[in-house]
Amino acid sequence: MKIVLIGFMGSGKTAVAKALGEILKLPVVEMDDLVYAKTQSKDMHEVFAKGGELLLRETEIAIAKEYSAADNCIISTGGGVVLNKIILDYLKQQDGKVFFLNANLQVVMDRLANDTSRPLLQDFVETKRLYYFRLPLYLEYADEVIDVWKKSIEEIADEIYEILFPDEER
Ligand code: S3P
Repeated sequence: MKIVLIGFMGSGKTAVAKALGEILKLPVVEMDDLVYAKTQSKDMHEVFAKGGELLLRETEIAIAKEYSAADNCIISTGGGVVLNKIILDYLKQQDGKVFFLNANLQVVMDRLANDTSRPLLQDFVETKRLYYFRLPLYLEYADEVIDVWKKSIEEIADEIYEILFPDEER
């Protein structure tokens, strides 16, 4: 089984993937880290400096292709993977189950208020535009939608576990 987490920046994909990895004893693949490795960059600003958003998106497609055949892992994606349907097509292979971590705009804004690590985060208006542009895409590609506001990371991970294994006690 391949578990794929999608969602906007700041929705908690990385933390939930880690918690779920511990529960299920599965390795976590952090797509942003693979982007850094593949482009030999230390962070997202360096990726953008080297090749702009195009380099990020092309690298994400290459990674998704590599992981299309992967099994028994949790993939925490970058927030923009839904911009390229081909990425989700690859990740859904091998019984990939896509969970959308649905955080509302205010939650995301609060969490990202002091963030300087993400080049696409600019002002409120632009972030809001990105959020509403992508929302239907996350919903379209998700097998399951998990509302994440007012829930702890553990509660979210448990909810995913119960969807995956409805008959099993933890
Ligand atoms: C991006 C999200 C980031 C990272 C890059 C672009 C986006 O990942 O891939 O800064 O387009 O939403 P996170 O969602 O893990 O922050």
